[in-house]
Amino acid sequence: MDRLVIEGGNRLVGEVTVSGAKNAVLPLMAGALLTGEELTITNVPALRDIRTLSGLLTHLGVEVKAEGDRLCLRTPAVAEPVAPYEMVKTMRASILVLGPLLGRFKRAKVSLPGGCAIGARPVNLHIDGLRRMGATVEIEHGYIKAEAPTGLKGAKIYLEVPTVTGTENLMLAAVFASGETVIENAALEPEVAFLAHALNKMGAKISGAGTERLVIEGVDGLHAAEVEVIPDRVEAGTFMIASAMTVGNVLIKNCPMDHLEALVVKLREAGTVITTEGSGVRVVGKWPIRSVDLKTMAYPGFPTDMQAQMMAMMTIAGGLSVIRETVFENRFMHVGELRRMGANIAVDGRSAIIRGVSTLGGAPLMATDLRASASLVLAGLVAAGRTEVSRIYHLDRGYDGLEKKLIKLGAVIKRVHDKNE
Ligand code: EPZ
Repeated sequence: MDRLVIEGGNRLVGEVTVSGAKNAVLPLMAGALLTGEELTITNVPALRDIRTLSGLLTHLGVEVKAEGDRLCLRTPAVAEPVAPYEMVKTMRASILVLGPLLGRFKRAKVSLPGGCAIGARPVNLHIDGLRRMGATVEIEHGYIKAEAPTGLKGAKIYLEVPTVTGTENLMLAAVFASGETVIENAALEPEVAFLAHALNKMGAKISGAGTERLVIEGVDGLHAAEVEVIPDRVEAGTFMIASAMTVGNVLIKNCPMDHLEALVVKLREAGTVITTEGSGVRVVGKWPIRSVDLKTMAYPGFPTDMQAQMMAMMTIAGGLSVIRETVFENRFMHVGELRRMGANIAVDGRSAIIRGVSTLGGAPLMATDLRASASLVLAGLVAAGRTEVSRIYHLDRGYDGLEKKLIKLGAVIKRVHDKNE
């Protein structure tokens, strides 16, 4: 397994370009199951999760061709609509094949994605929605077995929680359902609207993209399309925070500013200067950093996927910051590691109280989940001395060459391959 070795203390200066959004590519890749014609996706980032889903889709019978940042997929047929545990357990987003397999092939057997480090991650709302569309769904031996022999029927579905992949799964399932499906309290994340637009480009009839009420009119089939992936707002936000906390001056190109309102408000509150410059955003860090409070919420609230990174910044701010994680029940794994660097953080249930310290000290750390690993790298950038972050396969799931981009901005980082691990 690889680790990153970081010598802290450098301000980040220069330009960086944001890659395509992981959480926009994954559901659209699953959408390729809906048609035998070619779906071409461009601006695809080079990520472990995308390779993992490509592997599962290939296993299902999808023809997948990767050419640089272009991904071409087509599904003339599916041998067996079964997504096995060994493949699903490595990436929970594999659950996204359930809706399209059931919608097009009328049956599917998908391993229940277990929980993960950040929480139990139930999929009950995915299953309840499919049942409302007429599917029979049983849970047997760790698998979701779903059948709709006469096809899914349009239905009115209310999501008690605006689940992102739940909304996406049900949207995918509804594309061929007979009649109209309405999804109320749908997730508002930009990646959900992106999926709706992409499916419409393939011939689906989805309205309400970007609102909490999605209406999907069933159609008979989808056709070929070419779709460019939107920029990754979480990667962009990670670079904003990196520039802010190193008191840097970074121009972030291809930055989806309108998807980052909640973060921009908080960074400005902390004293960071953020201005648009052409199609980019310039982020200039200011010292001392002001402590801010925040609460994670579903979009457009403060994103849970940026909570760990913001906490890293608050560890060196000039006061007391309270961070409340309301989306996932166990998303403070980075706290113990940040404490090893001298951070002063107390956790009380879903709240973390961070008292800023003058400096962090480099230390050997272990990554536990994707965004926690990003926060440890950010802390290493400002820590005195050397920080080593191990198990960075977590990082590689969601960041396309993070250390390369940071090195170009002046960070001192090297990737070391641990043969003995
Ligand atoms: C998506 O996960 C993202 N993953 C996550 O990003 C992100 O953290 C999360 O949305 C929240 O924004 C992808 O898009 C692939 P949810 P998802 O269903 O869809 C509860 C990353 O870092 N819930 O919106 O799994 C659930 O317990 C990853 O890239 C149910 O109760 O999240 C949680 O409390 C990490 N029942 C809340 O909803 C359900 O059936 C939000 O979860 C489904 C969800």
